[in-house]
Amino acid sequence: MDLNKKIELVKAAIEARNAAYTPYSHFNVGAALLTKDGKIYKGCNIESAAYTPTCCAERTAFFKAVSEGERNFVAIAVVGGKKDEPISELCPPCGVCRQVMMDFCDPCEFEVILASSKEEIKSFKLKDLLPLGFGPGNLS
Ligand code: THU
Repeated sequence: MDLNKKIELVKAAIEARNAAYTPYSHFNVGAALLTKDGKIYKGCNIESAAYTPTCCAERTAFFKAVSEGERNFVAIAVVGGKKDEPISELCPPCGVCRQVMMDFCDPCEFEVILASSKEEIKSFKLKDLLPLGFGPGNLS
C-alpha cells in the first residue's frame, strides 16, 4: 500500500480514537479498517465497569464492518496512548484482536499499520504478528 493511503488510514484511526470510552484505563485507542473496495470502518475501544466485556478498537472496527456484510479487508491502522495526550508510541494489537483478524484476512497479505505520529508509520504483515496462527484453514 502506498504511503499516502497509509497516512489517510492513520488519520482516520486518530479521529476514531476521539470516541474511545475509557473511564477505567484512560488509554484511548483508535482503529481504521480498509476494505478491498476502498471503504474505511473506524473503531475505538469501549470499556465496561465489569472489565472483561471491554472491546478493543480493532475488534470494534472489524465487528462494525462484518456486521454490515464486509468480508474482504486490506489493512488496519491502529493508534493508541494516554487519554488527552497525543499519540507518541506504537500501539500494537493485542493477541485476541490478532486472532479475530485471522478469520477474515489472508495473513500473508493483510497489513497492520502502526503509528507513533503522522510521520512515524510502520507496517507489518499479520503473519509476522501472529506466526503459525490458527485460522479457518485449520478446520477445513
Ligand atoms: N486496547 C485496544 O483497544 N487495542 C489494543 O490492541 C490494545 C488494548 C484497549 C483495551 C483497553 O480499553 C485499553 O486499551 C487498555 O488495555
